[in-house]
Amino acid sequence: MAQRTPFVGGNWKMNLDRERSAALASEVVRMAATYPSVELAIFPPAVYVSAVESAVRGGAATVGGQDCSAEKEGAFTGQVSASMLANMGCSSVLIGHSERRHGLGETDATLSRKLARALEAGLLPVVCVGETLAERESGRAHDVIRTQLHGTLAGQTLNAAKLVIAYEPVWAIGTGRTATPDDAAEAHRTIRQTLADLYDVRFSESVRVIYGGSVNSKNAAELFAREEIDGGLVGGASLVAADFAVIVAAAAAKAKERSN
Ligand code: 13P
Repeated sequence: MAQRTPFVGGNWKMNLDRERSAALASEVVRMAATYPSVELAIFPPAVYVSAVESAVRGGAATVGGQDCSAEKEGAFTGQVSASMLANMGCSSVLIGHSERRHGLGETDATLSRKLARALEAGLLPVVCVGETLAERESGRAHDVIRTQLHGTLAGQTLNAAKLVIAYEPVWAIGTGRTATPDDAAEAHRTIRQTLADLYDVRFSESVRVIYGGSVNSKNAAELFAREEIDGGLVGGASLVAADFAVIVAAAAAKAKERSN
C-alpha cells in the first residue's frame, strides 16, 4: 500500500480579514497538533501570509501562497514573487488554480514559468488541474487533465516528495456539487498515469494527488477512503474551523489505515 503522507490544504481564497485570519490560523494549528500524520497547509490571501505565519510558527501547520508571479523580480506592479513568499515563511504555493486558469486566462505556458519560480524558491508546488463542465460533458475531461499536466510540468526537474497535484474539476468548485468518489478516483488514476509517462512509475507513485471541489465535513471521509485520493484542497469548508477539523480527521484516518 502507498505510504504517501496525506495532504490537506485550506484555500481561503479572497476571504477574511487580518484578525479573523490570525484567529482561524490559531484554531487550525491547535487542531493540527491532534493529527500529526497529516501534512496541513493554509493558503491565505498574500497580504495575510504574515499574520498566518505568526500564528502557525512552530506548530504542525504551514502557510502557503495562493499564487506567485511567473517573473523573478522587477517592474511587475501588483505581483508577488515566489521568493517573496518563501521569504515571508511560506512553504508551498498553489499553481494554476482554476480561478486563475479560467478566471484570469492563465495558460499552461505561464503556469510552467510560475512552477519554475516556485521550485527555484524552494516552495512545494500544489499544481491544480481540472476540466470544465463542457469539457467533461463532451468526454474530454481526461485529455484536458493530461494536456494541463504536460503543459505545466514538462521540462521541470521535480522531486516527487515535494510535489502535490490537486485535481479540481471546475464544475465542482464552490458549487456544492462534488465529484463522485469513482469519478475523482478515475481522474486521479489518469493523473498518476500521466506522471508515469512524463517521469516514471516510481515518481508517479510518490506524488500526492489530492481532490478539491466542494469537499466538506460530510463527504471527506468517503472521498479520502479511496486509495487514489491522498487528501484534499478545501475552499469554503476551510473557513469554518469545526468543518475543517472533520476533514483533517478524515485524512488522519487514511494515514492510520496506510500505516497498518
Ligand atoms: P470549494 O471547496 O469551496 O468548492 O473550493 C475548492 C477549491 O477551489 C479549493 O482550491
